[in-house]
Amino acid sequence: MSFTIKDAQGIEGMRLAGRLAAEVLDYLTPFVKPGVTTAELDKLALDFVVNVQGCISATVGYQPPGYPPFPSAICTSVNHVICHGIPNEKPLKKGDIVNIDVTVIKDGWHGDTSRMFLVGETSIAAKRLCQVTYESMWKGIELVRPGVRLGDIGHAIQTYAEAAGYSVVREFCGHGIGQKFHEDPQVLHYGKPGTGMVLQPGMTFTIEPMINQGRREIREMGDGWTIATKDRMLSAQWEHTVLCTETGYEIMTQSAGTPPPPAFVKPQATPTSAVMATTAA
Ligand code: MF3
Ligand code: CO
Ligand code: CO
Repeated sequence: MSFTIKDAQGIEGMRLAGRLAAEVLDYLTPFVKPGVTTAELDKLALDFVVNVQGCISATVGYQPPGYPPFPSAICTSVNHVICHGIPNEKPLKKGDIVNIDVTVIKDGWHGDTSRMFLVGETSIAAKRLCQVTYESMWKGIELVRPGVRLGDIGHAIQTYAEAAGYSVVREFCGHGIGQKFHEDPQVLHYGKPGTGMVLQPGMTFTIEPMINQGRREIREMGDGWTIATKDRMLSAQWEHTVLCTETGYEIMTQSAGTPPPPAFVKPQATPTSAVMATTAA
């Protein structure tokens, strides 16, 4: 499997694209209320991406082999929809949960991130699913450093989600990302420790677990994109684009509105070289 290593300039490009992607979600947040349609959210997102950020939407017209072109600037996956939901005219209602996933291109670099949004007051069960899914993503992220293997990351995510009584979607995964939207490696959200690709500094990839309340089986809807749970129970997803650094990880898709890491995530030790560089400057 081939993959790309980003140099300092590539990392700068990924930081900017990642922050801009996260800022699209910040911008949309106050609009995610009962009564808004996902098509309205998409219109807001596209206008912001193109006319405010000066970015290109990576998803409008995106067409992997065997798929129709994706029509929108965001994926909106409501309740039992797992991923790749196409925005539509149906208003969100109180109690819905919705994943909004956005990918922008800035100066040729991609930033890809998603969050869960609670529409008004939701059930405790729905909140718990969103919370555990967020924590599952972080169980993967916190392991990222050179020498760790992709199977270690998948295993940590799977173990955490399954211990909470949930299941992990297998058909879709995280991915390398850079000047291409989806590049190697595939980042599975399940797996065996000690297996899979060994991480190296300069790799950028997404971690984006899809966690189901019920069974893991999926159903493909007739539009060629939308993926839902077969049992119609709820599904949640969170996504960050991360960089493997010399000593750990850096979140590329970070903005003012990014939720803080869960309490179990230990702050990373600041590398000595960075301290010295700061002191010298
Ligand atoms: N952003 C999604 C991902 O995380 C991919 C969406 S492709 C689309 O990989 F065409 F459905 F938008
Ligand atoms: Co995404
Ligand atoms: Co992605």
